[in-house]
Amino acid sequence: MRHILNILDLSVEEIDELVATAMDIMARPDVYSNVCHNKTLATLFFEPSTRTRLSFEAAMWELGGRVLGFSEASSSSAAKGESVADTITVVSNYANIIAMRHPKEGAPLVASAHATVPIINAGDGGHNHPTQTLTDLVTIKKELGRFNNLTIGLCGDLKFGRTVHSLIAAMSRYNGIKFVLISPKELKLPAYISKDYIINKNIPFVETTTLEEGIEGLDVLYMTRVQRERFFNEEDYLRLKDRLILTQKKMESAPKGMIVMHPLPRVNEISTEIDSDPRAAYFRQAACGKFARMALIMKLLDLKVGD
Ligand code: CP
Repeated sequence: MRHILNILDLSVEEIDELVATAMDIMARPDVYSNVCHNKTLATLFFEPSTRTRLSFEAAMWELGGRVLGFSEASSSSAAKGESVADTITVVSNYANIIAMRHPKEGAPLVASAHATVPIINAGDGGHNHPTQTLTDLVTIKKELGRFNNLTIGLCGDLKFGRTVHSLIAAMSRYNGIKFVLISPKELKLPAYISKDYIINKNIPFVETTTLEEGIEGLDVLYMTRVQRERFFNEEDYLRLKDRLILTQKKMESAPKGMIVMHPLPRVNEISTEIDSDPRAAYFRQAACGKFARMALIMKLLDLKVGD
């Protein structure tokens, strides 16, 4: 039994295999429609979600399995004070695999210590979001055809943005990667991420506070929203929320072959006028999420087509 708490729990070879499986499911969905017959996924979401929870659920349904769970802590016994450890011990009896989102960093690690079925971290606080990264990798492969030799701009809330942290960890394992870190000074990448995954690996990077400076020469521009729910006071959020907005004018300086990604939800950081630009890949990226999660569920349950 394996848990996926961090994208680095998967080797580069396993990522290649999962991305290939996700692409095959996209091309031949009917072949996979019964792989999870008689298997149950529990989605335990202690924090709001649209894409992650619903794409996990769509993934399990489309693999022929079943789904149960809750979408907010207030509708579970967490509201009465039940611990994560007790919840997971109990739900392990009802499901073959659990996808869990929690506002506290490390909650999925606690869950994994008490689970008798695989735990998938569906986002823990400002820490990690490995299945978003798997989604991002499927998107990059589909859109650009490679993981090596990419210049990746990460823009917005690099401090609290867990999708950014997981994506940097994942991309730091490939060759010819350069990072352009675009954020207000107050929302810079945490030192432990830049030290472990950029500086110690001698990966070239630049830091800037403006999109105008950062956008030239990028293969990928990964936009993120300012994470209001992680701020200690509303004043700071209001001061920082609209510092970095991608507009059509700024896109004029971007390479023709660049793609714009965003884990979504978008608030105000990408102007809607960009949605019709062929380089806007964020809705195509959200579509990839279901296939990435189908591939991961199959792997963790050790199921293959024809089993
Ligand atoms: N990208 C992402 O995690 O979206 P949700 O919060 O809607 O799940």
